Amino acid sequence: MTRKIIIDCDPGQDDAVALFLAMSSPDELEILGITTVAGNVPLALTQRNARMMCDIAGHQDMAVFAGCEKPMVRDAITAENIHGNTGIDGVDVFEPQTPLQEQHAVDFLIETLMAAADASITLVPTGPLTNIGTAMQKEPAIVGRVKEIVIMGGAMREGGNRSPSAEFNILVDPHAARIVYSCGRPIVAMGLDVTHQVLSTRDRVDRIRKLDNPVADATAGMLSFFHRYDTKKYGSEGAPLHDPCTIAWLLEPSLFETRECNLSVETESELTMGHTAVDFWHVTDRPHNVNWTYAVDADGFYALLNSRLSRF
Ligand code: RIB
Ligand code: CA
Repeated sequence: MTRKIIIDCDPGQDDAVALFLAMSSPDELEILGITTVAGNVPLALTQRNARMMCDIAGHQDMAVFAGCEKPMVRDAITAENIHGNTGIDGVDVFEPQTPLQEQHAVDFLIETLMAAADASITLVPTGPLTNIGTAMQKEPAIVGRVKEIVIMGGAMREGGNRSPSAEFNILVDPHAARIVYSCGRPIVAMGLDVTHQVLSTRDRVDRIRKLDNPVADATAGMLSFFHRYDTKKYGSEGAPLHDPCTIAWLLEPSLFETRECNLSVETESELTMGHTAVDFWHVTDRPHNVNWTYAVDADGFYALLNSRLSRF
């Protein structure tokens, strides 16, 4: 039984690998559309980058939409220092064949969900939550049509990566994040605590490069660039493959360990804006609104990734 999904992303090298992993798995995942949002780089680049990945994967027929170019309330922040000025440094940029759809991503989300049966579509956001938060605010009736939301965002023990206490996706748009995390539908939360366990070490990148196809080549090239910032910052070898963890969950959930608990988002304090307060030890009576992911079989994750990328 294939799962209908919509991927909402801000490519970003790791978003790009998540798109490849999803497009490699048509037996399990039916991608209804890819919506893009301003995040790692501005929207004009994230939408172009998503369409480039569809070309590289041979999916020029994929429906790609551009969404919100700034957060709901705050000013935009970006991450060229990590992803490069193109957002996908490590591959040569080209003008993709995959067209950009006319419809705004928020309207696509609303139209698609309103036409769907209850609890039938899985949302997979791997960037700031602006598109999804805006859609839920504009048309609350879509929430019931959502089967599950698998979010890359937030952090608990790992602290922040863009501020001392906030992970990038949530810091960019904490107001949208608060809407989404409190929407009441099942949420699998993939934060830095788990994504920092799947580092793209040199050996792992070499094994991907040896798969010797255009998608694997692009992946190896992007990861060879993407790792340098994290390696310098954390002293670890290899960048965390944040966003593909969401797709890996959909394909092989047994790779992960999760715990139901409350996750709340800070939207008032400038000091801790975008912080995700994860009540892992249930010390409050706040509702358990997420399945917080805290452990992963990293070797199993890369075995899955390699086996799927080898299909192209
Ligand atoms: O903090 C990591 C997240 O922010 C990833 O999704 C990365 O692509 C950036 O969007
Ligand atoms: Ca991302």
